[in-house]
Amino acid sequence: MAQAATVHLNSPPAAERETIRGLLDLSSPGDLEALFGRAFRLKEQTVGREIYLRGIVEFSNICEKDCSYCGIRRSNTDLERFQMPPDEIVAASLRAYRGGFKSILLQSGERTDPEFIGLVERVVRRLKEETDDGIGITLSLGEQNHDTYRRWFGAGAHRYLLRIETSSPRLYGTFHPADHDYAFRRRCLASLRRIGYQVGSGMLIGLPGQTTADLAADALFLREIDVDMIGMGPYIPHRQTPLAEKVLNYSPAKQLELGLKMIAVCRILMPDINIAAATSLQTLSPEGWRRGIRAGANVVMPNFTPARYRAAYSLYEGKPAAENETDSLGALESLFTGLTEKIVPDAWGDSPRFFRRNQLRDAPNHESCESSRINIIIRKSA
Ligand code: 5AD
Repeated sequence: MAQAATVHLNSPPAAERETIRGLLDLSSPGDLEALFGRAFRLKEQTVGREIYLRGIVEFSNICEKDCSYCGIRRSNTDLERFQMPPDEIVAASLRAYRGGFKSILLQSGERTDPEFIGLVERVVRRLKEETDDGIGITLSLGEQNHDTYRRWFGAGAHRYLLRIETSSPRLYGTFHPADHDYAFRRRCLASLRRIGYQVGSGMLIGLPGQTTADLAADALFLREIDVDMIGMGPYIPHRQTPLAEKVLNYSPAKQLELGLKMIAVCRILMPDINIAAATSLQTLSPEGWRRGIRAGANVVMPNFTPARYRAAYSLYEGKPAAENETDSLGALESLFTGLTEKIVPDAWGDSPRFFRRNQLRDAPNHESCESSRINIIIRKSA
């Protein structure tokens, strides 16, 4: 017998976290369908039926950091390091742009030296000039100081993605060596917001030792810092990393399911933001993106890194190294056939939340936005 369970969000924080944990623990097909369906409908009402696109260019795997989960960590010596020359970064970005992907995401390993900072600034400036400001640029280049973020914003980047990875300072400490500082990462996110970027964050889902209570806290953290967009995805072990040794009973199907549940929960908590269906979701299953969209995501990010560099940008195992079937509009259209959503080429696809927040800020007497005042009713199978 099925029984209706009403879940009131916006209750006291501990109760809210418990509620979300409950949603993340759902496992019967009927419950999952109800959860994903709820998030999907909410997405339709808030951000609509459009799927926004970002072309990713991963332009260097040289990294100063040593995250225990990541295949391009500094200590992995079994990896050929590359840095694409500026001309190639521009060419790859323009290939995406001319193919209808008006918004691009430039990503690389972390570097903070002046040469790198200058290179990024020049590339961003050139792309804006060569497209007559037609290209939308998101950066995902890790922790930098305020001045660097400001320079890149000044050059024309207008969105920045910096995952918190996990909002629990305790877990953060276990996955990152001592040269990482949770407090600094939070300050980076605050800097980005102050400068005027649309700010994205997110986490790794299904890390060893991470519970659904931790993930519930992560979702609430993202709402608390009021992100404009979320980039988050299931953790996939990489053999040449210390964390892979701690993974017991790894199940790709479970990772996928947890990733989808997080999308749904975040959509319910933050209805008007952009949520990406991550590359790792599509790596776990050829249906990953499609299912992500069905669970409440509204952005996908096909890869435009030139094929010869892809194998070396191995954040995790199985990350597609060949040119794949998803990097043209036609291919994407067939991937999403039958859905009520449509991919929108030639659009930046900015976060509605960003504009809404600014409007609210400028409006007199506002208190808070309505985004989380939602009751979810899902059927619980008895
Ligand atoms: N599995 C999935 N995602 C990973 N990332 C790094 N390593 C892995 C992994 N093993 C993600 C991190 C980082 C982003 C660029 O890639 O969350 O922020």
